[in-house]
Amino acid sequence: MSGDYDFHSDEFQSAPGATFTRMQQECPFHKSQQYGWYSVFRFDDIADIVRDNDTFSARFGPGPAYADPDAAPVLVSADPPLHGKQKAAIIPAFNAQLIRDMEEPIRRFVNQCIDSVIESGECDVVQDIAVPLPLWVICELLDIDFETNKVQLREWIEILAGSVFPTGEAMEAERIQKVMDLQAFFDPHIAAKVAKDEAGEDAGADLIGLLAKGRVEGERIGNAEIKSFAQFLLVAGSATTTNLIGNFVKLMLAHPEQQAKLRSNPSLMDQAIEEVLRFDAPVHGLFRTNNEEVRLGEHTVPPDSKICLMWGSANRDPAVFDDPNTFNIERDLQTLRKNMTFGQGLHKCLGAPLARLECKVFAEEFLRRIPTFEANGEPVSYPYSTLNGLDNLPIRFPPGSPEQ
Ligand code: HEM
Repeated sequence: MSGDYDFHSDEFQSAPGATFTRMQQECPFHKSQQYGWYSVFRFDDIADIVRDNDTFSARFGPGPAYADPDAAPVLVSADPPLHGKQKAAIIPAFNAQLIRDMEEPIRRFVNQCIDSVIESGECDVVQDIAVPLPLWVICELLDIDFETNKVQLREWIEILAGSVFPTGEAMEAERIQKVMDLQAFFDPHIAAKVAKDEAGEDAGADLIGLLAKGRVEGERIGNAEIKSFAQFLLVAGSATTTNLIGNFVKLMLAHPEQQAKLRSNPSLMDQAIEEVLRFDAPVHGLFRTNNEEVRLGEHTVPPDSKICLMWGSANRDPAVFDDPNTFNIERDLQTLRKNMTFGQGLHKCLGAPLARLECKVFAEEFLRRIPTFEANGEPVSYPYSTLNGLDNLPIRFPPGSPEQ
């Protein structure tokens, strides 16, 4: 093995793109001596793996740690045919019209967030807007009251997102207790929806309601599965979109000439968002587990090995994207859409249109109401995780007036 990398290193965390390029050239299939898992860096190799669901299973979950084999698999950790049946139960909630109907409420919410900071002339874009917006959207999807629960939910998301990547430290008792509290939080909510369905009433069009009334081969979806799904969605739909919005502002700050192009030509918005998704994927990579021995490059990989598909690296593959390490919002949209930020194949992200919409509405309102902005301190990155984003992004701008 020639090349090496460490997910946890400052080198990787501060410049993942440079590491991806190096690994594609030196070591496109990598085995971590420290953690034992494999990583795949080239676009076509990743595409081959996601096509072969018989060999590369999702059943041990998308993270580096092996999911509990006794826990019922839910969607992202389910293989065919169960995956398809579960997907059929929730797909109505991701209907294109329903997503479009969220645009105006999202716009109102974004403007409320901007109103709360506009007079002061400074804010932390991540904590003041990029965190609350996707959390509010998830609360709407799960039919949970945002105002009452936002502080608690955010704390849980941070704990879950932090535990996605094992750092070698055991999770301390306090954190374990908090994860258990989160699981208990969903119990009464799910029980109420299931009770409605059992009483012949409509359990609702929100995701928990749809799962409560959903059937897989005539059987109800168990409360434990519904709970796992709600918990998954809390991180999968919220921390990821927070990263997208934070990365958008970070890249606009770092590339003023691209920001100027977008401001003078707003029809570039879809390309700009897709380029942010490509250039700075909010999730570096996620895992599969092989059912049988396979060859990956020079490695003979024993069954049940964890294999990380590096979406962020696929996005920097010169075989697909010209000059991949340049941030350029004028790339061809069709080519840009080949990015693997939302995964590919069977498990491709169901929330992609919603995440794009949230970022687009945010970007339109932010650029409209904040005509210029600059850094107001150092950004703070997410601490070592498969997630790629910022915890803090302080900016300053000319003070304005609330609109609502
Ligand atoms: C920028 C934001 C987002 C990113 C980067 C992202 C990324 C991903 C990726 C890479 C996968 C594939 C997992 C795999 O192959 O193992 C995935 C799956 C999924 N995502 Fe997202 N996601 C985002 C936002 C959302 C949102 C907003 C929702 C819902 C509200 C959502 C719901 C899901 C679901 C349900 C799956 C599982 C699909 C399946 O297994 O069939 N995601 N996401």
